[in-house]
Amino acid sequence: MPRRLVVGNWKMNGSRASNASLLETLSASEASLGEGCGMVVCVPFPYLQQTSDLLAGRRIGWGAQDVSAHRQGAFTGEVSAAMLREFGCSYVIVGHSERRQYHGESSDLVGQKAAVVLEHGMTPIVCVGETLAEREADRTEEVVSGQLDSVLQRLGADIGRAVVAYEPVWAIGTGRTATPEQAQAVHAILRQQLRQAEANAGSVSILYGGSVKADNAASLFACADIDGGLVGGASLNAQEFSAICAA
Ligand code: PGA
Repeated sequence: MPRRLVVGNWKMNGSRASNASLLETLSASEASLGEGCGMVVCVPFPYLQQTSDLLAGRRIGWGAQDVSAHRQGAFTGEVSAAMLREFGCSYVIVGHSERRQYHGESSDLVGQKAAVVLEHGMTPIVCVGETLAEREADRTEEVVSGQLDSVLQRLGADIGRAVVAYEPVWAIGTGRTATPEQAQAVHAILRQQLRQAEANAGSVSILYGGSVKADNAASLFACADIDGGLVGGASLNAQEFSAICAA
């Protein structure tokens, strides 16, 4: 798994036609990906087959945006880690703030999901982030460290095989990006927490997410503890996403 990584989170967007054109353009740009850099797209479940067909043999990885914490059984509407693995997924986003906010996902559940993803040989991208009210109340560190701690409790040394994404909720889809200084400050806290928890966790990739665009990616990615990005809106535009990956 490359340490420097840009992951596109398509959210609930796409169609067979638009996916085909997006993936075709991304495939054409993969040669510009630097050594040790990875590009990944996390697509809606129904498009996993199309994505795996179109990206077969490419350097671009793919994955899902959520997974069930259960292995199998009577869980109507849920999708298991084993199923995702069958579609060739290498990555699964867990604990995105939209899941926490609209589906009431707790940090404990996020830890369970991360564990089941690892158990099936895939990499969980564990999202943490504070709301605007929490930031304004000076609670950013307490909130993100608490969210990460639940996952650390569950994974132990296996955290070394995960990716962490810091996504301040107030920056997601708002056009209001954290400044490189604001993002780096939180990444440094998370890095320190990982290092203290597990000897092998200091080198875990920590991605920044929240209104990452082609014109702000380079300054964010230049920060010492920012290893790449988790990109929502801008990942739906092939030129924009390729430019972010090139950064
Ligand atoms: P955004 O979303 O880039 O559209 O702000 C990021 C995310 O939610 O992962």
